[in-house]
Amino acid sequence: MTEETLSNLLHEERRFEPPAELAAAANVTADAYAEADADRLAFWAKAAERVSWAEPFTEVLDWSNPPFARWYGGGRLNAAYNCVDRHVEAGHGDRVALHWVGEPDDEARTVTYAELRDEVCRAANALTELGVTAGDRVAIYMPMIPETVVAMLACARLGAPHTVVFGGFSADALASRISDCQAKVVITSDGGYRRGAASALKPAVDEACDKVAAGNEVEVEKVLVVRRTGQDVAWQDGRDVWWHDVVDAQSPEHEPEAFDAEHPLYVMYTSGTTGKPKGILHTTGGYLVGTAWTHWAVFDLKPETDVYWCTADVGWVTGHSYMVYGPLANGATQVMYEGTPDTPHKGRWWEIIERYGVTIFYTAPTAIRTFMKQGEQIPAGFDMSSLRLLGSVGESINPEAYVWYRRVIGADRCPIVDTWWQTETGQIMVSPLPGVTAGKPGSAMTALPGVSAQVVNDEGKAVAPGSGGYLVLTEPWPGMLRTIWGDDERFRKTYWSRFPGRYFAGDGAKLDEDGDIWLLGRVDDVMNVSGHRLSTTEIESALVSHPKVAEAAVVGANDETTGQAVCAFVILRETAVAEADEPGEGEDLVQELRRHVQREIGAIAKPRQIMVVQELPKTRSGKIMRRLLRDVAENREVGDVTTLADSSVMGLIQDGLSSSSSDDA
Ligand code: PRX
Repeated sequence: MTEETLSNLLHEERRFEPPAELAAAANVTADAYAEADADRLAFWAKAAERVSWAEPFTEVLDWSNPPFARWYGGGRLNAAYNCVDRHVEAGHGDRVALHWVGEPDDEARTVTYAELRDEVCRAANALTELGVTAGDRVAIYMPMIPETVVAMLACARLGAPHTVVFGGFSADALASRISDCQAKVVITSDGGYRRGAASALKPAVDEACDKVAAGNEVEVEKVLVVRRTGQDVAWQDGRDVWWHDVVDAQSPEHEPEAFDAEHPLYVMYTSGTTGKPKGILHTTGGYLVGTAWTHWAVFDLKPETDVYWCTADVGWVTGHSYMVYGPLANGATQVMYEGTPDTPHKGRWWEIIERYGVTIFYTAPTAIRTFMKQGEQIPAGFDMSSLRLLGSVGESINPEAYVWYRRVIGADRCPIVDTWWQTETGQIMVSPLPGVTAGKPGSAMTALPGVSAQVVNDEGKAVAPGSGGYLVLTEPWPGMLRTIWGDDERFRKTYWSRFPGRYFAGDGAKLDEDGDIWLLGRVDDVMNVSGHRLSTTEIESALVSHPKVAEAAVVGANDETTGQAVCAFVILRETAVAEADEPGEGEDLVQELRRHVQREIGAIAKPRQIMVVQELPKTRSGKIMRRLLRDVAENREVGDVTTLADSSVMGLIQDGLSSSSSDDA
């Protein structure tokens, strides 16, 4: 959002007060803020009652060795027991846990909590038979099917940290994640359905296992494969096993072991400012409390009556915290959908809301903007009167999209919770509470009770209302990352060194006159494309790994639908320059490079635009000035060039681009 739009909005002061009915029966009232302010740790001790402990904790927080926090010391618990068994024991075995909807229109499955419990136990028994024990890492590379949730919970039950890799990532990306956390088992499927066709997953796993073995680091011992589409798959005897062969025959009984509150639960890789993705480590007790409490509070969940739907893929943190752990710990009934929103028709999501009577709906601004473009007549064709609360996550929701979402999807009745958080925070940190806080389009409002956020200036001083700076978190919170897998020093440097003693999130933010927080996007070299984090450096490395590319610079440029889009500037190697000059070859080369990035990282990283240039703007110390390239990518007048080593470079780039675009025409 530009400064100008922001200030216009702040002047508009549009506010939506919580609906009286919701406020009257809300799970959390305004008292929670006061309670947490009075005694933050007592507040989180009380929140921990949402979780069942096999042994109670004796210390809420140990922060004697910052930035390494230990929450709920002395406590022991099992995350899977909390997400399934205890609901069955409480008499809710017949409650639906998952209304799973396949992309092909005629496929749907209902999984009750009792069925989920049995399946998780069978899978845990099967993994044990395959040699998985507490502490072993298991990679999961799956489509959006119930077995994915079962697989995650089975790992959690055994104390084997999972690392779920988004199914859209390439074999290379999967291999680097398997190597980094040394996973010995991979759980996958033959494929899944997307955009009306079966896509394959197993071949990427085969390729990744080969790569990992060639690197001589670790060997993947077993690959457990779910049959989803029935397509042919290559098979390596001894390593590959079918899910239906080893899981289905197991006993549905499995005694859950209680693990230390700080036992690792999972590692989720996310992009940072360097090329190498960071393995964000979450542990058991704090994470479960953080996600369960916030899911209950922010979505005002009433497990007996609500039908909750989070549209995120399980391969991202939102799928972990607000599709698997938070909602299941709370005994929620939820929808899980395999496919894309436009298959087989553009009203698919709204049809699902109508069919299952969804009451709470959580999605991303990029999806909302896509629906806005398609027009309101599509959702208008469905009865969505069951909805009572809407959520947004992944990037700031621009006011136009907020107002549309509220009016067209929420019938001007449902409040919107704009939830700010990160892979690292594990849980929602800044968000309205729907029965307490008003909503302002474009603002995530205030830190939740028990969360201490500040907007600070370059010197780390808190800014006054009406000013901007950086968002920091000043106190530890239960769901926080504990470290970067295998790299404590990088953890310390990345998050805790810019403002010593405080967690720096990497986001710019502004306080309005009321003291409410407006997120302004990343201040580092991380892009946000459709709510997904991508590192400029990672894509640059992918581009320069192509034999025809000498140098590359990547920026995130504003995009009407995806928020930001990947724009790349490349300098070709001399041998490639002559080739690219041949008629028609330039465009082929650009396509080849786009495909190359897809192969190296995944389709989400594919640049929208690749511009071949002769030079890149660099400072005297050789740092690429991405700010100037962003100006070019966004068709703006180029800003201050005085710190460039060669100030004529920008002129050359622009001349080159305008002549190449006239060539194209
Ligand atoms: O820049 C912020 C943006 O997404 C980043 C975190 O990305 P990731 O770890 O992939 O997690 C995404 C889902 C939690 C943040 O640093 N972001 C996320 N939610 C919001 C947001 N920016 C503004 N408003 C939000 N509600």
